[in-house]
Amino acid sequence: MDIEQVGPVGAEITDIDLSVSEQIPVKAIEEAFLKHSVLVFKNQKLSPEDLKNISLIWGEPLIHPVFKGMENYPEIIEIKNLGEKYHTNAHWHSDVTFEEEPPNATLLYSLEIPDEGGDTLFSNQYLAYEDLSEELKENLTNKLAIHSNLGVLILSGGKAKDAKEVEHPIFRTHPETGRKALYLTEAFVKEIKDVESKFSQETLSALYKHSSNESYIYRHKWTAGDLVVWDNRCVLHYAEHGYGNQNRTMHRITTAGSKPL
Ligand SMILES: [Fe+2]
Repeated sequence: MDIEQVGPVGAEITDIDLSVSEQIPVKAIEEAFLKHSVLVFKNQKLSPEDLKNISLIWGEPLIHPVFKGMENYPEIIEIKNLGEKYHTNAHWHSDVTFEEEPPNATLLYSLEIPDEGGDTLFSNQYLAYEDLSEELKENLTNKLAIHSNLGVLILSGGKAKDAKEVEHPIFRTHPETGRKALYLTEAFVKEIKDVESKFSQETLSALYKHSSNESYIYRHKWTAGDLVVWDNRCVLHYAEHGYGNQNRTMHRITTAGSKPL
């Protein structure tokens, strides 16, 4: 297994076949994951069963709270091109942060890739945290952000009255590395708890802008057979469209997480 860093976040992994479970160097993969936060496994050929087995390296596969999974694999969501109008992931986010215990990792495996467009961008939120002024770090330490599933609920045909809110720290400490990361998702965060509304709005918009600074970003250009796994605890991602009506098919699994602290 060869590991090569690809940017401010992420590493490309070659010379490994993840479909042969006895040969998977689990420990080395776990270490690389904690070090690089995004792993890109090249040239894989994975059945849904393989993907489900591999996901166990990162934890128990989850059933998505809103989107329906595949017929015999409820934990795998098949993502197809529904056209730009129905593409909802072109924004910086960490997956389903409106849950009490958002998933630790997301695995995205590409089966069919368009000729152009469809890049996924990743932003290193350890670096985003570390670069903040000492004053801001101090002001926001122990502050909570209120996350809501309202937007996703409406998109999936639900009712506003069923929306739920959870509170997570703005600076999250990664339970395994002990490092702090900025932990905000613009589409899900309503406000900072227990501060004046003007301060909340101004601070949040400055932090959103900061969190996707170019110096923290790795842009992944997909090839069919790539399996990309990212750490939702310290990375934001952004799924670009820009592939018109071309086919694009991906399989996605998220794995169980814990309450952000
Ligand atoms: Fe996502």
